[in-house]
Amino acid sequence: KTIFVLNGPNLNLLGARQPEIYGRETLADVEANCRALVEPEGYELRFHQSNAEYQLIDWIHEARTTACALVINPAAYTHTSVAILDALNTCEFPVFEVHISNVHKRESFRHHSYVSLRADGVIAGCGIQGYELALRRVMHLVGAA
Ligand code: DQA
Repeated sequence: KTIFVLNGPNLNLLGARQPEIYGRETLADVEANCRALVEPEGYELRFHQSNAEYQLIDWIHEARTTACALVINPAAYTHTSVAILDALNTCEFPVFEVHISNVHKRESFRHHSYVSLRADGVIAGCGIQGYELALRRVMHLVGAA
């Protein structure tokens, strides 16, 4: 079984970008943690980041026919992208939304999420550990690899 983990704009700069908000660990660290969690259980992990909305949508379309679940940190597109919501609405598997920071503690424009209209669960404010929490939930839901 294949699990997709997708990351939106500016997350390539994780570790260097506003570390007081997002921490010092990099996206490579996030990927390593995710692999360490799911690969020993027999799942295949597809881990991607893009600054381009169309690329995230193309990966969601790919996941649609090949994956058993998807975890996404849509970053700023969370708050703007009807297109990503529409793409997620074509998927029938579990979808989890992750935010490293607690978006509800921040500016009001971060309080609304288009993606939450589709997500089966949302994790915010748990730092990069949020990805692992979401993946644990995914494995619980989809069962043995
Ligand atoms: C974020 C929160 C978003 O509001 C922001 O635009 C991001 C990262 C987070 O992980 O906390 O880029 O999704």
